Amino acid sequence: MLKIEVDNINGKTESLYVFGERSILSELEVHNVLIDYSCRQGHCGSCILQLLSGDVMHEDCLVPLSPGEILACQAKPITDIKIGLRDFT
Ligand code: FES
Repeated sequence: MLKIEVDNINGKTESLYVFGERSILSELEVHNVLIDYSCRQGHCGSCILQLLSGDVMHEDCLVPLSPGEILACQAKPITDIKIGLRDFT
């Protein structure tokens, strides 16, 4: 199994254990960690998250990403990962 670490809105780190078969967005939903999203198809960019450690594999990704950014709806973990919300500043 793979581990997804994510800080929740209270600033507490949650650890989710997944098989890596579903997108990170789907895994977060299954575990009741809600993030912004819209198209779910790699087009809109509203689901961008920061990858703080580990590696992911993207399926379709039509949004230009900065280093360290991932599209939650299209990325699947391939190692244990730590993710954070996008820094809009
Ligand atoms: S929800 Fe639109 S790119 Fe992920």
